[in-house]
Amino acid sequence: MLRTHTCGELRLNDTGKTVTLSGWVQRIRDKGGLIWIDLRDRYGITQLLLEEGRSPAELIADARKLGREFVIQARGKVIERVSKNPKMATGDIEIDLAEITVLNRSKTPPFTIENETDGGEELRMKYRYLDLRRNPLKESLLLRHKLSLETRKYLDNQEFVEIETPYLIKSTPEGARDFVVPSRMNPGEFYALPQSPQTFKQLLMVAGYDRYYQLVKCFRDEDLRADRQPEFTQIDCEMSFVEQEDILNTFEGLIRYLFKEIKGLELPAFPRLPFDEAMRLYGSDKPDIRFGMTFVELNDVAQGKGFKVFDDAELVVGINAPGCAGYSRKQLDKLTDFVKRPQVGAKGLVYVKYNEDGSFKSSVDKFFDAEALKSWAGKFEAKPGDLMLILSGDADAVRRQLNELRLEMGTRLGLRDPQNYKALWVVDFPLLEWNEDDQRYHAMHHPFTSPKPEDLDLLETDPGKVHANAYDLVINGVEIGGGSIRIHDRELQKRMFKALGFSEEAAQEQFGFLMNAFEYGAPPHGGIAFGFDRLAAMFAGKDSIRDFIAFPKNNNGRDVMIDSPSVISPEQLDELGLKVVKKREK
Ligand code: AMO
Repeated sequence: MLRTHTCGELRLNDTGKTVTLSGWVQRIRDKGGLIWIDLRDRYGITQLLLEEGRSPAELIADARKLGREFVIQARGKVIERVSKNPKMATGDIEIDLAEITVLNRSKTPPFTIENETDGGEELRMKYRYLDLRRNPLKESLLLRHKLSLETRKYLDNQEFVEIETPYLIKSTPEGARDFVVPSRMNPGEFYALPQSPQTFKQLLMVAGYDRYYQLVKCFRDEDLRADRQPEFTQIDCEMSFVEQEDILNTFEGLIRYLFKEIKGLELPAFPRLPFDEAMRLYGSDKPDIRFGMTFVELNDVAQGKGFKVFDDAELVVGINAPGCAGYSRKQLDKLTDFVKRPQVGAKGLVYVKYNEDGSFKSSVDKFFDAEALKSWAGKFEAKPGDLMLILSGDADAVRRQLNELRLEMGTRLGLRDPQNYKALWVVDFPLLEWNEDDQRYHAMHHPFTSPKPEDLDLLETDPGKVHANAYDLVINGVEIGGGSIRIHDRELQKRMFKALGFSEEAAQEQFGFLMNAFEYGAPPHGGIAFGFDRLAAMFAGKDSIRDFIAFPKNNNGRDVMIDSPSVISPEQLDELGLKVVKKREK
């Protein structure tokens, strides 16, 4: 071993020991008579000391030649520090250096390797291996490791078996685009990388492995955001002989276990909110329930009073922002600008101030007198000092817009503390959603999700009204996981494909393997998958999943470190029977 200890473990009771440490030079401070070197490894930082007059002159000369990020081996005696640093775990001691060996030199890194760095995002991505030396990233990856370990422990305890499924498959209908891989041995044919192991885990249920899980890479060619990567990891699970309730309980157990083990937090039982309620109260299927400000519908009190904007609207709906009646003209204009941004898309914002003195001031005073506004305040359960914010228009659109405004107000009022964890299950999702572009229904979750038995009759007559045995786990407004009870009956699966507009031939061609399997004794089954990267980011109170993935892609789906995707040689293309029609312009 090139070391006797790590850079994070020496303490006062080690004084007097001669030790050998290895690591990277974080910093050298040369104060004339005294030289300090901060030596860093994965475990921490230990201070090395040289003193003119006491330390060998040659050693001091060598130390002065060291640069940042040199890899060195340092031998010396552990001594008590004169001025201790209570912020460092090793802050009570330092090493009186006797010997340094340079194990490797380093170029000056393009950014500082400190907790706060001066490197921009793109530069840090290019030198990801240097960025990963920094504490915040190291902590993220260690947290991720701990989460995977505890997840495996919990599931193993519950008799789940981890089984790997293939990466070179045929497209799974999860809704995003597939990444495809050409097959040299089958010219003109392609594999698809799995968007999830959905069909395989169902086949494993048919095979009798009644509790399956896998920490598995999934691939989706979709537009990227802070919480979306083209390749990401799921905790993918499936169970047989269960009902929805069993799955919710098992996996609520997993999430609560993880919070307990890793954060020492006892989360209360997760409330369950039907999808329709979530949309009505929050305008979102992933409501952030860390704060109230739920939607209040005003059609009955706000329409028919001559205000055309409201009269023409399908829905008039608002939120009550507590204590915000004092908002200035400028602040209200800013909120109006916020809802009018193209990303939100509202035409305007109506406000009603419920002043401390009990009077009202609104942007629609011309149409509504104090008495009318008082009745609105009653609906909002508003108190003097509150501000009511109201939008109107097409119901779906206006709910989406008000959701954005609600979240914005929650942020402004400091109600969205990332370390305050509020989880819930959103249940009873619609089975299908209408797609305007294709003029047909799409599966809201995926085509294997089972309809609620009581809605089965509507599948052919009013498909949009059918609810599904489908559920999402939402924490702090982020969709952490989702799943469903599956169809295990071939006939029902056929009806489902029909509702989705598949001809029998097309269904057989794409999903024949699954439907055939269902003829050999498929057990009732269901499952769920959690976004593992999202879960890790959530545990750290962060929005972006990038720093919880060792080597992520940037927003254009590129790995700027290895410069991928990249062109391949004409020979390779030839061998694959491919021709490049259009190349990326550099
Ligand atoms: P779903 O598509 O809802 O379900 O995915 C499950 C969870 O995976 C996470 N997730 C992502 N995380 C990072 N980047 C992405 N691009 C990304 N896409 C999804 C989310 C999401 O909740 N087979 C079904 C599960 C099932 O029915 O059992 C599925 O994949 O946190």
